[in-house]
Amino acid sequence: MEDTKALNPKIILLGPPGAGKGTIAEMLKNEYGAVHLSTGDMLREEVKNDTPMGREALGYMNSGALVPDELVISILESRITGEGREKGFVLDGFPRTIRQAGALEEILSKAGAAPDFVLNLQAPEDVIIQRLSGRLQCADCSRIYHVMNMPPKEKGVCDECGGKLFQRSDDKEETVKARLKTYREQTAPLIGFYRDRGVLKDVKADAGPAETFEEVRRQI
Ligand code: AP5
Repeated sequence: MEDTKALNPKIILLGPPGAGKGTIAEMLKNEYGAVHLSTGDMLREEVKNDTPMGREALGYMNSGALVPDELVISILESRITGEGREKGFVLDGFPRTIRQAGALEEILSKAGAAPDFVLNLQAPEDVIIQRLSGRLQCADCSRIYHVMNMPPKEKGVCDECGGKLFQRSDDKEETVKARLKTYREQTAPLIGFYRDRGVLKDVKADAGPAETFEEVRRQI
């Protein structure tokens, strides 16, 4: 554990929608001070600010498809080299295609870095659907809640910053099914990609958040 802190870990979280990547990323951030980089949150910010990138991304996101590689690579590249990255980072939702993984290797190698661990969070489909149908997120600080599993203290209000909680537009059952299909076809091949590089660790993520985080700590 102490060794990992000293290393300023560079961690990639892999796993289907609803496996708990965002939740575990926040716990890793609190434990190690590593920066949480979520391409989903970055894209939702662009949508909220109605930027040209956000307008382009929205249609893909609401249909459960991936946003084109070039767009996501450019948004990630501008953030991964920013201030505070010397404490390590947790990548949540990137890479999601073999092409993105290749681009990440290039970006990191320019900085003389490589991922320390790729954690492959695994949860069955019925658990995923239950989680996503009850997810709430803060419109201001992006903190994640669940109406039953992790409710806020006050209904509809973020414990952290007092922001308003909302339900993501892509958490409708039909869109969740499309996102799972996209995951199986385009993202699951990354499991083999990182296993071949010797950095992949499987994490059983179907228990509660605290238990899952304990498993993560054991793995790293
Ligand atoms: P993104 O925001 O990355 O969504 P995702 O990968 O589908 O993952 P989710 O955020 O839905 O789930 P999660 O695994 O983070 O689970 P969470 O911790 O929230 O991407 C959205 C869209 O943006 C994509 O569909 C795509 O269009 C686009 N996009 C993003 N990145 C892209 C990229 N690189 N390339 C191309 N397009 C990209 O947990 C879910 C719920 O479960 C929460 O309510 C939480 O409270 C609860 N929960 C979590 N863990 C537990 C647990 N252990 N026990 C009980 N409840 C739990």
